[in-house]
Amino acid sequence: MKPSDTRKPEHPINPLLLDRWSPRAMSGASISKTELLQLFEAAKWAPSSYNNQPWRFVYAEKESSHWKNFFNLLVEFNQQWCKNAAVLVVALSRKNFASNEKPARTHSFDAGAAWENLALQGTTMGLVVHAMEGFDYDKAKKELEIPDEYNVEAMIAIGKPGNKADLPAAIQEREYPSDRRKLAETIFEGRFSY
Ligand SMILES: Cc1cc2nc3c(=O)[nH]c(=O)nc-3n(C[C@H](O)[C@H](O)[C@H](O)COP(=O)(O)O)c2cc1C
Repeated sequence: MKPSDTRKPEHPINPLLLDRWSPRAMSGASISKTELLQLFEAAKWAPSSYNNQPWRFVYAEKESSHWKNFFNLLVEFNQQWCKNAAVLVVALSRKNFASNEKPARTHSFDAGAAWENLALQGTTMGLVVHAMEGFDYDKAKKELEIPDEYNVEAMIAIGKPGNKADLPAAIQEREYPSDRRKLAETIFEGRFSY
C-alpha cells in the first residue's frame, strides 16, 4: 500500500507528492553510487534566486571511514533508526551570493527546494529519504570543516526500505504517513489573518 492510497488531498494533485513521506524503517542495505548521484542530480535542478544554487551536500556512505563522524552528530532518537541508513547527508547553504558576496536572502528557501527535489526523486526510486534537525549543528560545522560562509540546514538519511517490525516499539508507533492541517489555515487572500 502506498501513502497516496490513504492520504487524502483536498484538491487533486500528483500522487508523487503524497507518496513522498519520511519512513524510519530501513533495511541496512547500501545504495549504489549511481542511485546516490541521481538523488544529488535531482537536487541540482532546483530553482534558486538568480540561479545562485546555494545548496551544498556533504555525505558519508555507511561503508566509508566518514560514517562514524556523521552518525555521531545525530541525537540518540535519530541514531536508533539511522543505524540502518545507507547514506547520511548534511545539507548546507551558502549565505551570500557567489557572484557579489551580497547576502542571499533566500539561501535557506533555495536549499529547501533542492532537498525536496532530492526527496521526490528518492520516492520515484523506491528509496527512504528522511530529513532531520535532530543533530548537533555546531559539531557538524566543526567536524566536517564547514566554512563560516555556509549555514548548516539539516541532515538527510537515505536508505533502502526496511521492515517496520524491526524498529524499536516506540518508533513503530510513529511509522505511518502523516496528515496535514487544512489548506484554509495556511493560505490567506490579500492579507495575513489568524
Ligand atoms: C527539516 C526537517 C527536519 C526533520 N527532523 C527530523 C528528525 O530529527 N527526526 C525525525 O525522525 N524526523 C524528522 N523530520 C521528519 C518530519 O517529522 C516529517 O517530515 C513530518 O512529520 C511530515 O511527515 P512526512 O515527511 O512523512 O510527510 C524532519 C523533517 C524535516 C523536513
